[in-house]
Amino acid sequence: MKLGRLNHIGVATPSIADSIAYYREVMGATDITEAFDLAEQGVKVCFVNTATDSGVNGTQIELIEPLGEGSTLRGFMEKNPLGGQHHVCYEVEDIVQARAWFEGKGKRILGPTRIGAHGTPIFFLHPKDMMGQLTEIMETPKSAGEGTH
Ligand code: CO
Repeated sequence: MKLGRLNHIGVATPSIADSIAYYREVMGATDITEAFDLAEQGVKVCFVNTATDSGVNGTQIELIEPLGEGSTLRGFMEKNPLGGQHHVCYEVEDIVQARAWFEGKGKRILGPTRIGAHGTPIFFLHPKDMMGQLTEIMETPKSAGEGTH
C-alpha cells in the first residue's frame, strides 16, 4: 500500500455554527460548505477548504458535531467539551487493498468499509494500533467533483 495525500483533519465541535463563524472571522476561511447530517455516523458535518485561491491543492478541516443520542462523538465530547482534533484522513488508491494491508499487519479496523462524508469508501483504524491517533482511510475520489463537497 502507498500512502496518498492527507485529505482532511477531523475536528470535533460542540457547535458547527460557532466553528464556522470562527473559521470565517478569526481564521480567514472563505470556502466553507453547508453543514449536513450524516445520520448513520451520528454526526453533523461541514468542510472548511484551505488554500482555496492559491492554486495549490489545499486540504480540508472536517468539522463534526454530535448528532443524536447514540452519536459516536458523545464520548469524545465528554472528555473534550471544547471539541478538538478527532481524526486524520489519508487517501489511498484502492480501499479494498488498503483494508487487507492493515488487516495483514494486525491493525484493528472499526466497523465495515462504508461511504463516508465525502461520498467515497472509508474505514477507521483503531487509535490504539495507530500511535494514539484515530485514522480514517479513504479511497481517492475518482472524479474532480467527488470528494470535494
Ligand atoms: Co473524516
